[in-house]
Amino acid sequence: MKSQQLILIISVVAMMSMLLVKTVHSTDTQHSFVGIKPQLVADFIFSVIEADRTLYARQVVDRMKDTGTVIASESWMHRNALPLPSQLLLMAGKRVEGNGLGLTYRLASLSPIYEKNGPATDFERKGLEAVINKPEKPFSGIIHKGQQPYFQSIYSDKAVSKACVNCHNSHVLSPKHDYQLHEVMGGVIISFPLE
Ligand code: HEC
Repeated sequence: MKSQQLILIISVVAMMSMLLVKTVHSTDTQHSFVGIKPQLVADFIFSVIEADRTLYARQVVDRMKDTGTVIASESWMHRNALPLPSQLLLMAGKRVEGNGLGLTYRLASLSPIYEKNGPATDFERKGLEAVINKPEKPFSGIIHKGQQPYFQSIYSDKAVSKACVNCHNSHVLSPKHDYQLHEVMGGVIISFPLE
């Protein structure tokens, strides 16, 4: 009888310790390995870029122009002017790239004013085409730079004001001169390493 009781106690203790190990293990797994989905990370990054771009355009560029303080111009560096919102986004993207985290973003288009802003890969070309047809849905996937896998997401960039359309349509280097208001003009391309 006594030995049976002993065996029972030992097995209960053994089972409890196994359960404990399992609990600790699964808690550990939760903290160390389960990450945020890459699409959500890209959405977070895009929402910051989009907020900065819109606020810069509305609260800085438009207000400065309305109050007659200073205008925004492509040649801002050589005159008394602010950078264009698209130039600010591109400069900020270069700065982020310089941080060396592997995160990159830029503004691109299938009909770019400057060739450097055209698609750099087939994936980017496909993405820029896809967001023209479905502007509300980012085009995403895994790409490789060397051996390293990257998550890439392309978000539509629309002509939200007449100024977008007028400037691009009249720019001497623009290959497209018939942009319409609300049309998708290009996309914001975000990439970051998955490992
Ligand atoms: C006053 C002129 C001007 C206005 C207004 C303007 N852009 Fe641009 N945009 C440019 C220039 C110049 C570039 C190229 C910047 C560079 O690469 O340095 C550019 C770049 C872009 C690009 C990248 C592809 C390309 O053409 O090189 C997109 C997409 C774009 N603009 C969309 C927009 C949208 C959307 C708006 C309105 C919210 C807008 N632009 C307003 C002049 C303008």
